[in-house]
Amino acid sequence: MATIRMRNTNKRLTQEQEVKSFLDEQGVLYEHWDMEKLPNDLHDNFTLSDEKKEEILSLFDSEIRSLANRRGYEEWDIVALSDATPNLDELLKKFEQVHVHTEDEVRAITAGNGIFTIKGDSGYFDVELSAGDVISVPVNIPHFFTLMENRQVVAVRLFIDASGWVAHLYDDPDFKS
Ligand SMILES: [Fe+2]
Repeated sequence: MATIRMRNTNKRLTQEQEVKSFLDEQGVLYEHWDMEKLPNDLHDNFTLSDEKKEEILSLFDSEIRSLANRRGYEEWDIVALSDATPNLDELLKKFEQVHVHTEDEVRAITAGNGIFTIKGDSGYFDVELSAGDVISVPVNIPHFFTLMENRQVVAVRLFIDASGWVAHLYDDPDFKS
């Protein structure tokens, strides 16, 4: 279940209904997939072989296709990050810069955790994600993604056009790290 933290006030939203309605008001898609479908070894495996990645994609094929049909995604893949990822610290430094994209950024977390920091109507807020959470940051909304303390995540990414999925840095005086 995702939870929200307002960065200005430190206020938290932890009830499913309030999280959903807040994200809905901000235009952020939020859904949930049933992670009980995953076999045990995939709940905490963050160094996935190509075969394991394919296994996750086929387990969630109907959920992926439902999203793709509704929202026009054409391609999908799996990203896995952990301390076993070469240069994780450098990668995170790069991630943690506010940016925008010309298409929405969709992630379905299948293991571990992550945070999307997103610019909302009244300042930036953090969405803390865990396995089963599916989120999409709208086009041109300033945001960034990073890991939580456990520094591990597996997520399905969906793209309209993966080759056009580029981060455009957004220098925002309103953002306080
Ligand atoms: Fe992004």
